[in-house]
Amino acid sequence: MTGRRVILYCGAAARGQAWARIVHETTEDFELQVWPDFGAANDIEYLVAWTIPTGLIAKLPRLRAVFSVGAGVDQLDLAAIPANLPLARMLEPGIEACLTSYVAMAVLALHRDLPAYLAQQRAGIWRPLPVHPPSACRVGLLGLGRLGMAAAMTVRGLGFPVAGWSRLAKAIDGIACHCGADGLARLLAVSDILVCLLPLTVETRGILNAENFARLPRGAGLINAGRGGHLVEADLLDALASGQVGAAVLDVTETEPLDAEHPFWRHEHILLTPHVGAVTQTDTGIAALLDNIRRHVRGESLEGLVNRARGY
Ligand code: NAP
Ligand code: GLV
Repeated sequence: MTGRRVILYCGAAARGQAWARIVHETTEDFELQVWPDFGAANDIEYLVAWTIPTGLIAKLPRLRAVFSVGAGVDQLDLAAIPANLPLARMLEPGIEACLTSYVAMAVLALHRDLPAYLAQQRAGIWRPLPVHPPSACRVGLLGLGRLGMAAAMTVRGLGFPVAGWSRLAKAIDGIACHCGADGLARLLAVSDILVCLLPLTVETRGILNAENFARLPRGAGLINAGRGGHLVEADLLDALASGQVGAAVLDVTETEPLDAEHPFWRHEHILLTPHVGAVTQTDTGIAALLDNIRRHVRGESLEGLVNRARGY
């Protein structure tokens, strides 16, 4: 590579400072500056961001590509990123490792009735519930992409029968694959635990709704590790009240942080975590970002290139 390429980071300041320090210490090919304290706008060729401040891109005349700090891109305003700029999401092994362990934890928590036992413990009740092996509990995954596939393999490895749903048809050894509207109905009918690992797009917003809950086996468990916008929150509360959904593990909510008065906080059938299913890891995240920029410099296509029309 000739000359040092300047990357601008927009996101949590502590992470930006850590990334800037590591880039400085490990390579002479790049400099990472942290918004809002960047130098000459004319030097910046690459932008890595969780969200992009309004008007920033218009101030960067030599910008060549945009990268998401995370695996998802729905938090970015895609319409505000000019179509001629390639946009790539973060593909790094730390996200997969974290997300698969989160899904395993959530599946096991629902399978072993953890929400009920936590409530019983608080009430001082010693009452065993029926115990079944994992082989008797079918797990359905919405999304069979990078994370959905990794989660499917992990959950299958724990002994659960696994099915999955994607936009395009797939054939994967040991996983019953479904696609399209009919496929969704078939998947829901055999999901004792339903896991959402979809990207949030126009097509997937609100997919966790009353109509789809009604297609699940009665008392099914729900895990949302995708985005809060996938879930119609009022429909989940109704489904929990009626017993159609037995319990839920939610890592993401429509508004984050969750409002202090929100009924999810104190709901005895909900386990809530603050969007920590996966967090981009510093070492592997920076390595993946710099590798991807090097690909761009060499004129190769980017890993994780987002298809703007599809929205993921
Ligand atoms: P990905 O590789 O792009 O996979 C997306 C999957 O969803 C693909 O299988 C895709 O189908 C399927 N899909 C998309 N639209 C669909 C539709 N309309 N109907 C049916 N299937 C559809 O994404 P990923 O890396 O697995 O990540 C998935 C999402 O996880 C991210 O977008 C993000 O929102 C979320 N996430 C959450 C956390 C967290 O901390 N909770 C962390 C990281 C990521 P095809 O295979 O046919 O394209
Ligand atoms: C986290 O939610 C991500 O998209 O990486």
